[in-house]
Amino acid sequence: MTLSAMQGRSKEDLVDDAVRYLWRHGTPITATRKAQGPIAVSGSGIRITDIDGNTYLDGLGGGSAAATIGYGQQEVADAVAQQLSKLHYASVRTYLNEPAIELARRIAEVAPGDLATSFFTSSGSEAVETAAQIIKAYHKKKGQPEKSKVIYRTTGFHGVSLIAASASASPDYRDWFQPLVPGFVEVPTCYTYRRPEGQSVEEYAASCAQAIEDEILRQGPETVGAIFAESIPAGLILPPPASYLKRLREICDQYDIVWLDDEVFIGFGRTGRYFGCEHYDVVPDIVTASKGITGGYVPLGAAIVSQSLMEVLVDDGAAGQAKVHGHTYSGHAGACAAGLAVLDILARDRLVENVARLGDKMLSAFREFGAEHPHVGDVRGKGFLIGIELVEDKATRKPFPAEAGIGRGVVAAAMKEKFMLRSARDVVAQSGGFEIGDIITLFPSFIATEDEVDEMIRITKQAITESCGA
Ligand SMILES: Cc1ncc(COP(=O)(O)O)c(C=O)c1O
Repeated sequence: MTLSAMQGRSKEDLVDDAVRYLWRHGTPITATRKAQGPIAVSGSGIRITDIDGNTYLDGLGGGSAAATIGYGQQEVADAVAQQLSKLHYASVRTYLNEPAIELARRIAEVAPGDLATSFFTSSGSEAVETAAQIIKAYHKKKGQPEKSKVIYRTTGFHGVSLIAASASASPDYRDWFQPLVPGFVEVPTCYTYRRPEGQSVEEYAASCAQAIEDEILRQGPETVGAIFAESIPAGLILPPPASYLKRLREICDQYDIVWLDDEVFIGFGRTGRYFGCEHYDVVPDIVTASKGITGGYVPLGAAIVSQSLMEVLVDDGAAGQAKVHGHTYSGHAGACAAGLAVLDILARDRLVENVARLGDKMLSAFREFGAEHPHVGDVRGKGFLIGIELVEDKATRKPFPAEAGIGRGVVAAAMKEKFMLRSARDVVAQSGGFEIGDIITLFPSFIATEDEVDEMIRITKQAITESCGA
């Protein structure tokens, strides 16, 4: 029996209450009544069941990519319950607690290179905000406090704190917060499908990296402290060529600029490696993570800091050690217990390997389909992070007009088969300079089986054909 049924409340009562009392993010305040999504009441495997008893195949890891290990993982629930009964809270500022220490150690084991010290938060935005504090502390410690500007990229999204919003490109995410933090400078992202006519991918990647260096030189390298750049931007799903990130690393080293690789969306397995940067053999200075650490069972985030940065930060020279402020719930014992259980499940069930294998299968299937389909312009991604860009004209890469609602049509067609996917065009309405087409995105839970992947492929292809009318 559902909670509302127990309380004698109908679905209509719930919708009324939602309109009146529950402010949903990312939707107009009163959208609940008109554009009401299903009211989820339970989940099992990669499926969610709603209050009417409909069961949906969830291609979105719970909607925001957090449900990485699926629903109903009893071990995680048990680990959290046991920890809450034993010691639910002891601030890591005043005490230490075992799950926080152990999780930090385990993260160091799976993180690449010398990324080894975790500062825990409760969300991705807080992890980015914390990283910004750490970066400031680093430059102050080195006696270069004027290195305070932050470079960020078009189409990027880093969260909803003021700093994160200042580094997020879409007006959708920025405009609410104006005026933003000064000293944030936008550069183009590396969007290979939308590269200029006649340029090879490598030439284009080199020009994108060059644009970053040019901007640093224009601003004055002595004023630039950081670049916020996801190794694989997840909003529009833009895996870059390896040469681009290698060059980014070199530029950061040359000008002593901290590279924050924001892996809140993709960290802890989504791309078929624990971290996206591992695909490129580059090691960022800080990686931010959240969703995948606990698979969405409990809120938790982390800024994972390299040892080379830590050496500067802990140096006990004249200025003393760096201090970074945290949150009441930084290193929350119950949240960290969830993280430990999730890491156990990822390793035991070889889920990251499953993502790599079945992600390749999905990509190949969509690429084969796209080669024949007149409106599939590009298929890209890594692991269970897949984007299919639909265009009106494949030769010119011209998007469908927004009013045609092609992406929305795909989502609606998939929904008729009770499959949840997303059209990025409706999420990122506009992004500096690029014409964004209808990008259909999929980011299911890592436990998806081969049959479920086949089902997702079948419905997605069918929904695209239905909406594009070809
Ligand atoms: C890359 C990236 N950074 C930061 C965030 C913000 O995380 P949160 O919503 O947990 O604050 C997100 C959220 O989707 C994200 O995808």
